[in-house]
Amino acid sequence: MNLRRMRHRLRKSLAQRGAIGTATMLLHKGLWPSSRTCDPPKEYLAVHPFDQQFGVETSGLIFAEDLLSGKRRDLYNAGYFGVAPSAFRQILDRLKDQLQLEFAKYTFVDLGSGKGRALLIAAEYPFCAIVGVELSPKLHAIAAANITGYQGPAQQCRNVRSIEADATEFSFPAGPLVVYLWNPFEAPVFSCVLANLETALAREPREVYILYIQPDLDPLLEASSSWRKLWHDEFQMSEEDYAAHAFPPRAEVCSAYRSVFPGSGAPL
Ligand SMILES: C[S@@+](CC[C@H](N)C(=O)[O-])C[C@H]1O[C@@H](n2cnc3c(N)ncnc32)[C@H](O)[C@@H]1O
Repeated sequence: MNLRRMRHRLRKSLAQRGAIGTATMLLHKGLWPSSRTCDPPKEYLAVHPFDQQFGVETSGLIFAEDLLSGKRRDLYNAGYFGVAPSAFRQILDRLKDQLQLEFAKYTFVDLGSGKGRALLIAAEYPFCAIVGVELSPKLHAIAAANITGYQGPAQQCRNVRSIEADATEFSFPAGPLVVYLWNPFEAPVFSCVLANLETALAREPREVYILYIQPDLDPLLEASSSWRKLWHDEFQMSEEDYAAHAFPPRAEVCSAYRSVFPGSGAPL
């Protein structure tokens, strides 16, 4: 592990566990937990065929330590890796087929949009608008260039943008939303984002769906009376996606939630 990563992990541990907790953990485990985002034990293609097909740059596994933006939320960043296109399309198709979602009424919001791969794939569906929110200036700049240069034949939504912002400071747009997250950040940030979304919902009750991939923090959503869980499922990825996937599982795990009308307990 290089020095920068070690320093970042130490600061993070001190913020989360305090000095005694950090010292105890160092004694037992060291600073390099074998979590999914830290230690991918799999060979994979460096460039995803999606990039070659559309002349964009969305590939790569980037550790949080290499994405420092200087903002205090850096400590809770889970790092960058783009969604598997085949699995993501299945997830959006399920909204269409199972819930008959009228995409044209919805704004798609990707919290932690990275290089924008999910934004470009979401644009294959007729959302009224697509917004990505990304903490890292470097990744936001790549996403903006990708959006400008992208010419996918299946593109239906042209109102696509990436904004550089901390998700905790993002003001949710009016109207129905599909809010998407690919395990972007840890609990302190997730709780804050969820509280902001619930405030926005209380101010303007409406239909909001949350799609949460690699849903480590599902219990936070399950504990809230603002959301009803629709599913928790595995979406198998194509061979092409798997060859370019950094992690061993062949599926993206996704939970979906729908907003509950405040006070009534009923879905909108
Ligand atoms: C796993 S990547 C997901 C990329 C994209 N959503 C996709 O599906 O292809 C998570 C992204 O969340 C970003 N992120 C982490 N913390 C954030 C925060 N507080 N605000 C906005 N973005 C954040 C990271 O920089 C990273 O690019």
